[in-house]
Amino acid sequence: MNLLVTGGAGFIGVNFIDYMLRTHPDYRIVCLDLLTYAANPERISELETNKHFRFVKGDIRNREEVYSLFSEESFDAVINFAAESHVDRSIENPDVFLSTNVLGTGVLLDACLKYGNIRFHQISTDEVYGDLPLESTDTFSERDRLSPSSPYSASKASADMLVLSYGRTYGLPVTISRSSNNYGPYQHSEKLIPTVIKNALSDKSIPVYGDGRNLRDWLHVEDHCKAIDLILHKGTIGELYNVASEKEYSNIDTVKAILSLLGKSEEHISFVSDRPGHDLRYAVDCSKIRTSLGWSAEREFTDGLRNTVRFYETKYGGTE
Ligand SMILES: NC(=O)c1ccc[n+]([C@@H]2O[C@H](COP(=O)([O-])OP(=O)(O)OC[C@H]3O[C@@H](n4cnc5c(N)ncnc54)[C@H](O)[C@@H]3O)[C@@H](O)[C@H]2O)c1
Repeated sequence: MNLLVTGGAGFIGVNFIDYMLRTHPDYRIVCLDLLTYAANPERISELETNKHFRFVKGDIRNREEVYSLFSEESFDAVINFAAESHVDRSIENPDVFLSTNVLGTGVLLDACLKYGNIRFHQISTDEVYGDLPLESTDTFSERDRLSPSSPYSASKASADMLVLSYGRTYGLPVTISRSSNNYGPYQHSEKLIPTVIKNALSDKSIPVYGDGRNLRDWLHVEDHCKAIDLILHKGTIGELYNVASEKEYSNIDTVKAILSLLGKSEEHISFVSDRPGHDLRYAVDCSKIRTSLGWSAEREFTDGLRNTVRFYETKYGGTE
């Protein structure tokens, strides 16, 4: 297969490209990425030593650039990771979230239609469902209505709607995966787990929103990559799949677990004013992907977190 991975220089994208090059050594992968602040250009350079991989710097919002790439390559499938992904930034400046996450996705869908009804997989998020009360034991299934809380999740929900509409109206072969919070190597330092590790290593204050009781479902990035690989090859066209570990941890427990792995005290934890509209609890039901594709998360959080902490210790160790 010849795959186009958009946003492949970001956290999940570089892990996905690495995973696919290892597990499908005969595949060719092209990565199209704008290299925003969130990208990992050094990791892309390392991946470029593989002759089956090609990197192209470009913007998914630029129709001319995107069409030119589609006309020179013959893609079998497009996997779209490209996005602005940080909720806090979306609260400060929603514009770029709408242009990249919604309009950029629209350009890619048009290109897939124009260049031969190309298979399209959209990487979405469980945040499109909105949140649940902390005390609740409910979970969201793929049939639940969307109720996003932030401009980020609203832009992702809009993109999901657009993708499904191209499936229904034009018959484009589309699928969508909605994953919970990912963790693992190569995530930008603005996100919770890298921030905690980075600040703890330099004995700086560790900001925790509100009272830290918000519940998150942490999925190791490699488990997510395996799910995408399965959906790409065996998923049913037109379907949505929730992807999560189905285990929940409060933010404060996650912070304390990281500090314990680093041998650091909890004295630097600082509870800061809550994020506006902060989602309380995310929880999705993954029975669809479990029963139809045989996927379930394999990596235990305690084990995955230990490895993740080691990765960032090496990356940030001795700095600042
Ligand atoms: N990280 C998570 O926990 C998580 C969970 C669920 C879903 N997702 C989704 O997965 C996808 C990847 O997330 P991530 O955490 O790797 O994000 P990221 O912010 O680390 O990476 C995004 C990548 O997209 C690129 N990009 C941004 N705008 C672009 C544009 N206009 N054209 C081309 N490239 C552009 C960036 O340069 C970057 O390399 C996103 O769509 C996100 O919504 C992420």
